[in-house]
Amino acid sequence: MIRLGINIDHVATLRNARGGEHPCPVRAALMAMEAGADGITAHLREDRRHIRDRDIERLKNEVPLPLNMEMAATGEMLEIALKIYPNAVCIVPEKRTELTTEGGLDVCAQEHTLTPYIKPLQGKGIRVSLFIDADAGQIEAAARTGADIVELHTGAYAQEDKSKDEDYLSPAACHLRSAAQLAHSLGLEVHAGHGLNYENVAAIAAIPEIAELNIGHFLMGEAMFIGMKESVARMRFLIEGARSSFAKATEEI
Ligand code: PXP
Repeated sequence: MIRLGINIDHVATLRNARGGEHPCPVRAALMAMEAGADGITAHLREDRRHIRDRDIERLKNEVPLPLNMEMAATGEMLEIALKIYPNAVCIVPEKRTELTTEGGLDVCAQEHTLTPYIKPLQGKGIRVSLFIDADAGQIEAAARTGADIVELHTGAYAQEDKSKDEDYLSPAACHLRSAAQLAHSLGLEVHAGHGLNYENVAAIAAIPEIAELNIGHFLMGEAMFIGMKESVARMRFLIEGARSSFAKATEEI
């Protein structure tokens, strides 16, 4: 089984474009759940450009799915997480000027600050994930911090030119596969996400060490054309198909 976490940040982006309450991220999360989502992801940014504090509270209280709260490793966010008590937090690097999370955390450089930062979260039973690039040094540093999970940034894979070598895994996909194997061998649960869509998801969903994918922007965009439930259900179908084809191929070998 591979879990599908749905990131509903951009429902809030659209809501905030006009103020008011519509469209509502909680309603989107409930619809995603009906369509087969296993969890909801929301990023409470320092500048509150999309998700706001009240959204996080409501997602936790009104949606009966595990909540994965993405956040920067700041004192303010630690306080909020310890109050809201999400099932997991995913620590991401954050820059005010970026359009989206552009790269992974530099855990090698921040190991000594991240290690004590994650302890109180884990002490409350909150699982801690670090969003990192598919890099062996970063994975090894993540394991040393005591984090439970690494989420591998799939942005470079999503942007790679895939017009050649269609029968083979692309270089970035191979890189992600080796990274997932290494992280898994070090006892970390492995997640992945960023820039995934219907066309590129299969190669990532087929990596057996990956336990969860977190997908947002594409699915929220697609929901405008085919509806939230259909948008999520198609992704669910594709990732399960990719995972079971991989399992079947391995049995045949
Ligand atoms: N995982 C993490 C840690 C992210 O920061 C994001 C983007 O907010 C995603 C997954 C989802 O990426 P996308 O919106 O491109 O699907």
